[in-house]
Amino acid sequence: MAESTKNATLTVGDKTIELPMFSPTSGPDVIDIRKLYAQAGVFTYDPGFTSTASCDSTITFIDGDEGILTHRGYPIGELAEKSHYLEVCYLLLYGELPSPVELEDFEHRVTNHTMIHEQMINFFRGFRRDAHPMAVMVGVVGAMSAFYHDSTDINDEWQREVASIRLIAKMPTIAAMAFKYTIGQPFVYPRNDLDYASNFLRMCFAVPAEDYVVDPILSRAMDRIFTLHADHEQNASTSTVRLASSSGANPFACIAAGIACLWGPAHGGANQACLEMLKEIGTPDRIPEFIARAKDKDDPFRLMGFGHRVYKNFDPRATVMKQSADEVLELMGVENNPILQVAKELEKQALEDPYFADKKLFPNVDFYSGIILEAMGFPTSMFTPIFALARTVGWISQWKEQLNDPQLKIGRPRQLYQGEDIRAYVDIEKR
Ligand code: CMC
Repeated sequence: MAESTKNATLTVGDKTIELPMFSPTSGPDVIDIRKLYAQAGVFTYDPGFTSTASCDSTITFIDGDEGILTHRGYPIGELAEKSHYLEVCYLLLYGELPSPVELEDFEHRVTNHTMIHEQMINFFRGFRRDAHPMAVMVGVVGAMSAFYHDSTDINDEWQREVASIRLIAKMPTIAAMAFKYTIGQPFVYPRNDLDYASNFLRMCFAVPAEDYVVDPILSRAMDRIFTLHADHEQNASTSTVRLASSSGANPFACIAAGIACLWGPAHGGANQACLEMLKEIGTPDRIPEFIARAKDKDDPFRLMGFGHRVYKNFDPRATVMKQSADEVLELMGVENNPILQVAKELEKQALEDPYFADKKLFPNVDFYSGIILEAMGFPTSMFTPIFALARTVGWISQWKEQLNDPQLKIGRPRQLYQGEDIRAYVDIEKR
């Protein structure tokens, strides 16, 4: 961590204390309050962490006002256009873009870990056929701790590396198997001659009865969806992974915790919730009714796929995703699909509405990713598992970074207690 060059002065009652400040490479200065309780006997209160930096990191930077997202300094738009997902994975994990030799070696390592332990198939068979694939993913990824004992020792750097590669390599296989299981089709094993995105598409859509050839436009769009979801700073699921790992939990358990957090509709579950909302709206003439509900303070309804905690201008991922959506819709010949018509019209009407403009609510990445995945033929229940598989590399990169941090402590927030003060116990016969 860089040296502090200036202080912030805080007065609490009759005490004045100096708090060190740090200047990041980009973004606002940060006040170091680690000694605040010891020095002033007070806590800070910040539910939702809207003003709190929970760690220092060198991986991803977001400027929400300017709509900037960079990984290791490279803007996301450039990465989505010029790189591909596994190259971005390498960048996130190791800090630099790979040379051709490094990339080949990395791709080889990932490709050679794509199969899962055959006995894990029994886990899948234990779930009900109608189980949500996210439920299956939480369970199966957590269960990896029971199958890969040789990569659960977090103090062994080699084991950490093996666990990282295993998770990135096996996540598409697990997500595709979760999908196949719910639709009652046989599992399709990975093929090592295909690239990461094509292999996933094939595992999802191939059947033993006929040949399946992956369309390069779909494969490119899938790869872009993976790339655009690869990492996103200290969001809820990443913070969950970091918190779980701060206790020394094994990597598979930590990533399962991240998947559980991602599932919620305010986070990764928004892509599914968005498509379900579009289906509920049904026809463009009902859009004003739903926009009115989203604006109504007494109605909890929100326009899913709109708004973001950090982006208050535009979501740079959404800009790239919108281009991919146009390409895929044209390829699939579904521009006139009624749900997609509703999506286009909703986007237009919401962007013209002063409520959304004043509150800086714009379509986020999940608005467009859901549209692409729908056009590709994925059921809505698979949208969040696809997000989870893509985000795995981000979780792992942040997990590895945290384990290398000499200042690592178990995460243990405090609270503003507002319950009863100590009171006398009342015996049951007197209650
Ligand atoms: N529709 C209608 N009103 C909204 C929406 C929306 N989608 N999002 C926020 N608002 C309003 C909200 O009612 C509040 O109004 P007021 O100030 O009058 O009380 C104001 O905007 C600020 O909202 P907030 O809940 O304080 O903002 P937040 O930063 O805590 O929430 C969010 C961010 C993403 C959870 C929220 O915008 C939301 O629920 N959006 C819909 C779900 C969604 O699309 N999530 C995916 C996020 S991108 C993928 C990811 O990172 O996982």
